Amino acid sequence: MVMTGGTSGFGAIAAERLARDGARLLIGARREAPAGEAIPLDLTELASVRSFAESVRARLGTTPVDALVLNAGMILPDVTGRTADGFETAFAVNHLAHYLLVRLLLPTLADRAIIVLTTSGTHDPANRAGLETPRHADAELLAHPDRDPGLDPRPAKAGEHAYTASKLCAILTVRSLSAHPDVLSRRITVIAYDPGQVFGTGLSKNLSLPLRVAWVVLGTPLGRPMRWFNPFLNGRAAAGGTLADLSLGRVTPPDGRTFTALRRERLTWPDPSEQGRSDALAQALWDDSARLTGLPPT
Ligand SMILES: NC(=O)c1ccc[n+]([C@@H]2O[C@H](COP(=O)([O-])OP(=O)(O)OC[C@H]3O[C@@H](n4cnc5c(N)ncnc54)[C@H](OP(=O)(O)O)[C@@H]3O)[C@@H](O)[C@H]2O)c1
Repeated sequence: MVMTGGTSGFGAIAAERLARDGARLLIGARREAPAGEAIPLDLTELASVRSFAESVRARLGTTPVDALVLNAGMILPDVTGRTADGFETAFAVNHLAHYLLVRLLLPTLADRAIIVLTTSGTHDPANRAGLETPRHADAELLAHPDRDPGLDPRPAKAGEHAYTASKLCAILTVRSLSAHPDVLSRRITVIAYDPGQVFGTGLSKNLSLPLRVAWVVLGTPLGRPMRWFNPFLNGRAAAGGTLADLSLGRVTPPDGRTFTALRRERLTWPDPSEQGRSDALAQALWDDSARLTGLPPT
């Protein structure tokens, strides 16, 4: 198995579960991983994604990859950061780097392999998650928000938009992948996983001090009673365990469903947002992402 985002939060719990289960786990990471074999990967650099894919191929030789778990993600307090490649950081890490990785590793996947991309319920305005909702999934504008005529002048709101739009991109990428000829012919399962809201992870680390404190406190047993009233709230163990179950193929998606959401610590299979169901948006994002990462469209 190959994984990103296995060093912190519920991804670390998933990684430990996968390793305990006997999976050979290669984790793309900026630091040591709690389980498996860490291979250097910094998602803020497309060159690092390419060398990570090379290292995976070198380590595995002819052994195919049975699961690709793309869980890394981040949210920033504004959209001023740029990656080594000149793209807005949250969009580049959450979407572009993972798009490139999945395209590079697709040929190494086994028949009936599983691809899981971690998305978020915040991609859907209907969920009223409290973050700015995606206005579009235009890769060019997300990569260069200064060119976006609708860019929110409030830094935090622009940062939220970068995050939720990148999570919409995960849904649209899964939509495109599930219709990809290689995926269909090799009967690969592709899933976009929304873990609900999971406090006590590292996700808030770039946000303001009050938000960071609230995130930590609500991640302790003090936050547990909130789960009785809010179906979107899940514990780290449930979110990580479910990610492991999905990656191990222990969950069979209902026919035609590719989006799953953890609600009251159980998997549900709702429709994604209206934007997330658009074939036109999915195709445009696929093609634009190919161009931005220097790949051919197919
Ligand atoms: N927590 C929630 O409420 C929630 C809700 C919906 C979706 N999600 C999504 O769930 C996933 C996991 O989030 P989490 O809450 O568990 O947060 P987390 O504890 O911050 O985990 C994020 C993971 O992504 C990795 N990562 C971030 N930037 C990276 C980079 N440039 N290169 C390589 N790895 C990088 C981190 O590595 P380091 O350890 O090196 O930082 C870490 O392993 C994310 O995709 C997040 O968007 C979370």
